[in-house]
Amino acid sequence: MKEDIVQAQERIEALRSEIEAHNYRYYVMDDPTISDALYDKMLRELEDLEKKYPSLASPHSPTQRVGGQPGEGFATVHHLTPMMSLSNAFEAGELEDFDRRVRQALSGEAVQYVVEPKIDGLAVSIFYENGLFSRGATRGDGETGEDISENLKTIRSVPLRLRRSVQALEIRGEAYMPKDSFARLNEAREEAGESLFANPRNAAAGTLRQLDPRVVASRRLNLIVYGIGYSEGVQQQEHSDVLNLLRELGLRANEYHLFSDINEVIRYCLDWQSHRFELPYSVDGLVIKVNSLDQQQRLGATAKSPRWAIAFKFPPEQAVTTVKNIFVRVGRTGVLTPTAEMDPVRIAGTTVSRATLHNEDNIRDKDIRIGDKVMIQKAGDIIPEVIAVLPEERKGEEPAWTMPSECPSCGSSVTRAAGEAAVRCTNIACPAQLWEGLIHFASRQAMNIAGLGPAVLAQILTRGLIHDPADLYQLRYEDLVGLERLGPKSAQNLLKALEESKKNPLSRLIFALGIRHVGERAAKILASHYDSLAALVDATEEELMVIPEIGPKIASSIVAFFAAGQNRQVIDKLVQAGVNVLAEKNNGTDVRPLDGKVFVLTGTLKDFTRRQAQEVVERLGGKVSASVSSNTDYVVAGEKPGSKYDRATTLHIPIMDENEFKKLADTDILDG
Ligand code: IVH
Repeated sequence: MKEDIVQAQERIEALRSEIEAHNYRYYVMDDPTISDALYDKMLRELEDLEKKYPSLASPHSPTQRVGGQPGEGFATVHHLTPMMSLSNAFEAGELEDFDRRVRQALSGEAVQYVVEPKIDGLAVSIFYENGLFSRGATRGDGETGEDISENLKTIRSVPLRLRRSVQALEIRGEAYMPKDSFARLNEAREEAGESLFANPRNAAAGTLRQLDPRVVASRRLNLIVYGIGYSEGVQQQEHSDVLNLLRELGLRANEYHLFSDINEVIRYCLDWQSHRFELPYSVDGLVIKVNSLDQQQRLGATAKSPRWAIAFKFPPEQAVTTVKNIFVRVGRTGVLTPTAEMDPVRIAGTTVSRATLHNEDNIRDKDIRIGDKVMIQKAGDIIPEVIAVLPEERKGEEPAWTMPSECPSCGSSVTRAAGEAAVRCTNIACPAQLWEGLIHFASRQAMNIAGLGPAVLAQILTRGLIHDPADLYQLRYEDLVGLERLGPKSAQNLLKALEESKKNPLSRLIFALGIRHVGERAAKILASHYDSLAALVDATEEELMVIPEIGPKIASSIVAFFAAGQNRQVIDKLVQAGVNVLAEKNNGTDVRPLDGKVFVLTGTLKDFTRRQAQEVVERLGGKVSASVSSNTDYVVAGEKPGSKYDRATTLHIPIMDENEFKKLADTDILDG
């Protein structure tokens, strides 16, 4: 027994380090080296061990990231040093004034400036004691904030343990919601008839104040750190060193540039502005800080903001245009979404000619009419929306707009559930729903059926060749070859892609089914929890809700989906067609060709992304490791391989080029 616990402790320690190392690769470096499935497997093993040996549990274990129960409210936290705000500059002249003030106060000393992106999220403070996450808080009034530790712990780029122990460290950073998470969240809320977040910042704020950390975990926040509030045991001379230190400690530190002249700073700010939309998160300006910490201290602060820093704010991207038409689109789940068609205008980096109007309440509240001149902006730089009508431009002839009472796609009646903003088509066989559902089913993230784009799908549908996604697998060469812009070769390729898609991992199929609220991540979690689709079909709401990150909404939506006879029929047809419905761990092949083999990938492959290459290895039973060691069985080398290639040569490890790897990728495990 004693032996067991010693072994368990070793394994637990190893798993914790490895999991945190992967978190770091994924969330800080943006360069994952293992698949989500493998990651989840390690996390599950750790959970099981901690359950079996409760004395070995630790609040700093990666299993505790979503371990917290919903709280009743948030406790108050006193910040060790106040969290101030920044004064703003809107034009170059104001930066020159700032520089003059700084130099004057420092009696003409040389000054170096450090410039960082100003991330548009929410300021948070996180306190580490002896290298361990102790607590995290919102800014609040600057002196005291709210204890949101459990919520911050769900952010995987927040280390629970620093890479090196520091006595005391209160770090400051910006928690934000990446643009793609924001778009997905609002899409799901729109489908569910819930109110939308105006921008990623509001979404991040709303999320961090959630009392249920499981909801927070599902919303994928991130954190970029930009400073230290209080510290013991570290001593830096310059702000840039502070950022470097934070990076060394395992945090995602903000990127920065150094300048010795304000004119260079100004040029950089103006240049940067045109690239601001290229980042995966919203940036609303740049922050200019005096780099020397000694100079910062001597410059001091006013009541609200430091004298050693200033924010250069970008102008908000808005534009005025005319609404030419309002049309209604029917989504995959039958929700009718009104959309404005407008005269094209350039805004936030792209030309916009459509804007979602969300729902009929929004149109009524803003009184948006066809022919109106409207002010539009992109919510969080991404989704164009109408913020206001310019009524003084109205001619007086524009009639108020009303939602159609029939589905524009199939003519069936529409309903609006009590308490929901969404209006839905009542016909489950509505062609618009089928159409959207099929596009989703074939999409790259779902069944990944290459060659089955909207143009081909439209023809297949109008010819009455298919009535649900499962029918896709009944298509024959003769059905396809006559279609417009689909020659014999493309028809053959499409059939091959369909055949190939049958072997997809179960998670893809679950996602492809288009169950409301079940996104890619939920699908992966479900696939790793159940052995087969059949087991998921039979799951009860209670059973589903026990699974981490699966809340009541997802659970009830899954149960409702499988309760519908029509959906069950589609699933039976998918099974009959030979689509894989078994989870990877139980896909009927006990022995796979790469069982137990360790691969290392290096360089760029032409036909595979890292993730795809990894999927290939794992599908065949192998494992991908980040570094070459004597345990490595093969190194796959693409173009421009790095030091891993040299190390493999030294250790006499077989090296595969892309062609050889391709052959491996074509291996069918059922033959193996
Ligand atoms: S430094 C003394 N750096 O902007 C204030 N702030 O109005 C130190 N922010 O509340 C702040 N990115 O939430 C700093 N790179 C950055 C920032 C940043 C975003 C936010 C922060 C702060 C607000 C200032």
